[in-house]
Amino acid sequence: MSAELIDGKKIALDIEFELIEKISKMDSKPSLSVIQVGEDPASTSYIRAKSKAAERVGINLTHHHLPESTTKSELSSLVNKLNESEDGIIIQLPLPEGLDSVLNEINPEKDVDGFHPFNLGKLVQGEPGLRPCTPAGVVELLYRSGNDPSGKHVVVVGRSTIVGKPLSLLLSQKGVDATVTLCHSRTPNLESFTGDADIVVVAVGWPDTVSANMLKSGVVVIDVGVNRTDSGLVGDVSSDVKEVASQLTPVPGGVGPMTVAMLMSNTVDSALKK
Ligand code: GUN
Repeated sequence: MSAELIDGKKIALDIEFELIEKISKMDSKPSLSVIQVGEDPASTSYIRAKSKAAERVGINLTHHHLPESTTKSELSSLVNKLNESEDGIIIQLPLPEGLDSVLNEINPEKDVDGFHPFNLGKLVQGEPGLRPCTPAGVVELLYRSGNDPSGKHVVVVGRSTIVGKPLSLLLSQKGVDATVTLCHSRTPNLESFTGDADIVVVAVGWPDTVSANMLKSGVVVIDVGVNRTDSGLVGDVSSDVKEVASQLTPVPGGVGPMTVAMLMSNTVDSALKK
């Protein structure tokens, strides 16, 4: 078997077209502020992708690029100012040490990354709220590639606050109805769980976390990993996975574009709510 590749770039463009439709009916363009502190090269590249997407769909994106030496009170005062004017605000991670608590000062109604404890709490309660973009993008990618998670056994590998944990909640909530197993880097006999899955989502941040011998034939594999190695950008699953999977997301061009599309979608939703 050679897995069919799930084209995240194409699916993200479909979502962008839907957003262009929505924005065309609005009185003014939605506004999104992206705050970057320091010079992390990955952050710079993610922000470039977000800026390009915003331009395509018609969102006014402002990039606030602050020096590494920025203090907590300087960052805090920028966030508080933007809370008054913007539809969406994100602070690109990682932040220099000591600044993380400012994330919680973003108005939860403008927290289009969905990282604020208020929005994470709403997710736990199954109440409406802004959902984290990568998990929301994975769920959207599953539906739009013909993989309704209802009744499926989905194994999520990775327990981060921005991907694994919220994804396990999104997939198991009423209406989505997957049966979810949440595994992580310290799960013994990982293959005993992944080998039983209909869908495996890997978000650990380590190459070759899951290989073909850990999977059943015909499984759908969503690779969230983005690892910069000497041989280029690779995901979290081994290249032999394509021999056993029925469908697989490429890296790059799988989940990455979906994260950006869901950020645009959250920004439009936030603007429509005000
Ligand atoms: N760093 C890596 N992924 C993300 C993301 O989705 N949002 C933010 N703000 N920072 C990130």
